[in-house]
Amino acid sequence: SETGSLSIIVLGASGDLAKKKTFPALFNLYQQGFLQSNEVHIFGYARTKISDDELRDRIRGHLLQSKSSSSGSGESEDAAKFLQLVKYISGAYDGEEGFRLLDTAIYEHEVSKNTQDGSSRRLFYLALPPSVYPSVCRMIKLFCMNKSDLGGWTRIVVEKPFGKDLKSAEALSGQIGELFGEEQIYRIDHYLGKELVQNLLVLRFANRFFYPLWNRDNIDSIQIVFREDFGTEGRGGYFDEYGIIRDIIQNHLIQVLCLGAMEKPVSLTPEHIRDEKVKVLQSVVPIKDEEVVLGQYEGYKDDPTVPNDSNTPTFATVVLRIHNERWEGVPFVLKAGKALNSRKAEIRVQFKEVPGDIFKCMNWIGRNEFVIRLQPSEAMYMKLTVKQPGLEMSTTQSELDLSYQQRYQGVQIPEAYERLILDTIRGDQQHFVRRDELKEAWEIFTPMLHRIDGGKLKPILYKQGSRGPVEADELLAKAGYMQTHGYKWVQPNL
Ligand code: BG6
Repeated sequence: SETGSLSIIVLGASGDLAKKKTFPALFNLYQQGFLQSNEVHIFGYARTKISDDELRDRIRGHLLQSKSSSSGSGESEDAAKFLQLVKYISGAYDGEEGFRLLDTAIYEHEVSKNTQDGSSRRLFYLALPPSVYPSVCRMIKLFCMNKSDLGGWTRIVVEKPFGKDLKSAEALSGQIGELFGEEQIYRIDHYLGKELVQNLLVLRFANRFFYPLWNRDNIDSIQIVFREDFGTEGRGGYFDEYGIIRDIIQNHLIQVLCLGAMEKPVSLTPEHIRDEKVKVLQSVVPIKDEEVVLGQYEGYKDDPTVPNDSNTPTFATVVLRIHNERWEGVPFVLKAGKALNSRKAEIRVQFKEVPGDIFKCMNWIGRNEFVIRLQPSEAMYMKLTVKQPGLEMSTTQSELDLSYQQRYQGVQIPEAYERLILDTIRGDQQHFVRRDELKEAWEIFTPMLHRIDGGKLKPILYKQGSRGPVEADELLAKAGYMQTHGYKWVQPNL
């Protein structure tokens, strides 16, 4: 792998994303030895005029907080060492002065760290609102590119929202695309950094179990569900402009859908994988209004940053239909909601019933399901019918269960951001969204989003802490989903 100086520049260093996600992820990488102090330097950049130490003070608490129980004095020592690698530079996002200063600082670091082999690796992490992406990218391009005599590279990391609809997203892509090649742009969708999302390809394509079953002949429906048990808390202003479809479904859930529905890629190279994801997206047919249920939780509009007449959904259930040989007729139900009764994200694959079922005369037990629980408590389990143990011949539903906490005791599952940032350093784009993928994803949702924005589709009110509108469960039932009553997955004890 590459060596020599590596500069990680966090733009928007004093913002929420940087403090809560970016710096803690960098710290975790540092602690695990992925960022060597003889090579790496981290630069924070933002408009606020503060000193290096002031930035360090703002970050410090978040570094230690991100660790669970184990933070002892070793932790804070590590944090202190890590923070010494962080420098701060203030400047505007559209002015050359700040970016010239930044370039000088990076260059000094590069010269001082490059005693053996020269290298100028520059990773720009834009923890910023997308409105400034174009100007920041222009400034980087003009003043801060890696020095070609030293070699290395320049990469840009960006995160959603990438526009608000197809047109604005394409405009943004166009602006950035004029300045940087696709191989330099890393569009983060942090769901692609989750352990069980990364496991999807392995599960599907390395197991004989699944290969003959993973199609319309056997699968009745697939649900991809995201639930949070809290509201928009303090982010109402941002959220109201976007809503749950842009916040969760168009990116996180659609990415999961791609990995669950795509054909086997030619190989594991990033382009082969992303080619297949694009094909799935292209096969999605236009969404029908009657296959959408929107919701807004009661009290959402009490947030002073949310307009009183907001039509923004905080909940949505959307049925997607994929028109191809594998999936014709199988509903993919994407469901996301805030302020619900639980917090979890999962993929639920429901199989068809057994033909000519000779046990049907007994009580109805429920269909086979394969559930991949992304969070919390990573697990996958198969719900299946077995004989109720005992003297009587009766059936019951049980499960084959792989719970990570139990099966992989002592294994720390990395944070999504940690893993993805490491990929950006290593130059691996597999878990990042390609421009054409993004475009296709917008194409699917833009007509519906325009109808919501225009007030033609309206959210139904639901109570905070509920399951969301009952209409959503009705839609699910109409799509063929059969709920198993009386079965509850119990997380195995350690
Ligand atoms: C973010 C959304 O992308 O993902 C938030 O903007 C949401 O609204 C968050 O809370 C959920 O991420 P996770 O990893 O906690 O499921």
